Amino acid sequence: MPVTTPAAPAPVSRSRPALPQDFGALLRQDPEIADVLLGEANRQAGTLQLIAAENFTSPAVLAALGSPLANKYAEGYPGARHHGGCEQADAAERIAIQRATALFGAEHANVQPHSGSSAVLAAYAALLRPGDTVLAMGLPYGGHLTHGSPANFSGRWFEFVGYGVDPDSGLIDYAQLRALARARRPKAIVCGSIAYPRHPDYELFREIADEVGAYLIVDAAHPMGLIAGGAAPSPVPYADVVCATTHKVLRGPRGGMILCGPELAERIDRAVFPFTQGGAQMHTVAAKAVAFGEAATPAFALYAHQVVAHARALARGLEAEGFDVTTDGTDTHLIVADPAPLGVDGRTARERLAAAGMVLDTCALPYGDARGIRLGTAAVTTQGMGEADMARIAVLFGAAVREAGDAGRLLADVRELTERNPPYQG
Ligand SMILES: Cc1ncc(COP(=O)(O)O)c(C=O)c1O
Repeated sequence: MPVTTPAAPAPVSRSRPALPQDFGALLRQDPEIADVLLGEANRQAGTLQLIAAENFTSPAVLAALGSPLANKYAEGYPGARHHGGCEQADAAERIAIQRATALFGAEHANVQPHSGSSAVLAAYAALLRPGDTVLAMGLPYGGHLTHGSPANFSGRWFEFVGYGVDPDSGLIDYAQLRALARARRPKAIVCGSIAYPRHPDYELFREIADEVGAYLIVDAAHPMGLIAGGAAPSPVPYADVVCATTHKVLRGPRGGMILCGPELAERIDRAVFPFTQGGAQMHTVAAKAVAFGEAATPAFALYAHQVVAHARALARGLEAEGFDVTTDGTDTHLIVADPAPLGVDGRTARERLAAAGMVLDTCALPYGDARGIRLGTAAVTTQGMGEADMARIAVLFGAAVREAGDAGRLLADVRELTERNPPYQG
């Protein structure tokens, strides 16, 4: 699938207020919690947010989240609600659905899932029965909790079989996937990961699913924003159901969504409400509509491509610092790196980086039991940082993880980067 490059570059929007909401009323009424929120705003602005699943939403998205729709109950769907007074709620949801289907070229969208996990739960509820066999990326290789963890409903209610990645290349082992599909005849195959930095081959997933008569569920929580911006291939033409989050690179409110064709639309809608959820969070649905509107602009397409260019630059810089970057780089916003060549494991690296003001996660590596680090460039790109900043960040990583140099100096360098690129401007 070709990944398009936007023709006309447009600047990343920098017109972001320092504090996205008016905190005056909250400060007067509840200074204790206002203090916590201001503390969080300062933490986000004063350190580097490199958690691959995080981003800075626009003031418009935050305004929708803090709007009167937060007060509204709207069980059901537009035109068929269990509550009165849903005219504006219906309008918000219709706009969100129309924008989502247009943005992703899908025939049907359900924008009500409260989260990515709720979207996956509803997809399973629509297509599977308890006890069915499902093939998904194994948790040690980057599968999400909803892909069969024994601590999650998925692992408790379904028979999950895990496929993996090649330990040397870090790439999905499609031969193993096909062999497992033939041997286990799953009812569904799940394609999606919390840590896979490359584009899955959706066409091949479809071929394997068709060969064994399985549904193909793509959990595109991570790449969905890149797909919206044309910086990653779309699973929509191949999957029976696409689940996603609306936060992460997509830069909307925390929430989920599901896309599918007309033949599954009713089953998906019923699986969301009333099967797995009650009333939709209409303020979040409105905020999703705002985010989909933003994601349809040329500026967002440029942003999505910048996110990938920045991740590639950062991955190159980390390799130059001695980190072992899995799959030798990235096609997405996401980087997984092993700090072992620098003499530490992922947990120690995360602690040292956090002490220097760089916030990220640890994650499983494609080989062995040691943990690596997982990071992403969605938030720093929204802030307006560029490729030179990525090179600088890589050098700071090396110094922090090696504990080379003065810790105060590292923090000051991070502060200089964040002050030059505040997430919200006054
Ligand atoms: C692949 C994948 N699926 C599902 C989810 C769940 O999303 P949420 O945390 O909104 O439930 C995530 C979250 O990171 C994810 O990466």
